[in-house]
Amino acid sequence: MSKGTVLVLGAKSDIAMAVAHRFAKDGYDIQLAARQADDLEASCTDMELRFRVKVTQHDFDALDVSSHAGFVDALPILPSVVVCAVGYMGEQAENERDVEAAAQVIRSNFEGPASILAELANRFEQRGSGILVGISSVAGDRGRATNYVYGSAKAGFTAFLSGLRNRLAKKGVHVVTVLPGFVATKMTEGMDLPAKLTAQPEEVADKIFNAVQKRRNVIYAKPIWWMIMMIIRNIPEGVFKKLKI
Ligand SMILES: NC(=O)c1ccc[n+]([C@@H]2O[C@H](COP(=O)([O-])OP(=O)(O)OC[C@H]3O[C@@H](n4cnc5c(N)ncnc54)[C@H](OP(=O)(O)O)[C@@H]3O)[C@@H](O)[C@H]2O)c1
Repeated sequence: MSKGTVLVLGAKSDIAMAVAHRFAKDGYDIQLAARQADDLEASCTDMELRFRVKVTQHDFDALDVSSHAGFVDALPILPSVVVCAVGYMGEQAENERDVEAAAQVIRSNFEGPASILAELANRFEQRGSGILVGISSVAGDRGRATNYVYGSAKAGFTAFLSGLRNRLAKKGVHVVTVLPGFVATKMTEGMDLPAKLTAQPEEVADKIFNAVQKRRNVIYAKPIWWMIMMIIRNIPEGVFKKLKI
């Protein structure tokens, strides 16, 4: 018997796919939502055969916010858990020159994810149950010269998730904020990341699975990131602006 249904938004992401596998392995049915979801056909079949759960695919564009209510209406069942992995880093240098490019980063990491989670939150509130998981970023903890457009969008998303958790705490609906730190995925391909600080997508998926079971509030993929960000947040502004980080 199914343990529930997990909707994975931005399902083509490496972290999202690992999350889908982790929940399917434990007996959850899965809804994979992504742009051009047809490409996910083979993944659906593979998961169904491997884990004996129901896996469906759904077209979803986070930037098309006017479609979000209809998207939720069209799901075969209102899920019990939602994991939003939608994100787009872009290029900081381009974002500094091109306001349209910057807007796409801001909308992809903040407006789109907040819009779809707001829609699902209202349905969960009405039902009186559900868990929403938003994948944000430690980049949102403090604006840095090298990626503050992406970071500021993630900061907005982190605050949105915090507010949503606060609002729904007494309504049977729980919200988990995920701050992964570095993860080896398509997004970070080609970057020179320190191995000890870099998680694999499967590690993040395990952390998300456990956070859902234990109703954790805010999680880091590797605990060391909590310490690193605590230090970075507390560097005085006068010193911070002289650093190249
Ligand atoms: N990798 C890291 O080090 C790291 C660190 C901190 C946070 N994160 C966050 O973790 C999440 C997953 O990222 P990832 O590392 O797995 O990278 P990824 O593979 O690039 O995943 C991002 C996913 O977001 C989807 N997406 C972007 N815009 C969308 C839109 N408008 N509508 C629907 N889907 C959209 C992309 O879909 P397409 O395939 O259609 O482009 C892609 O599958 C992101 O939110 C990212 O910001 C990652």
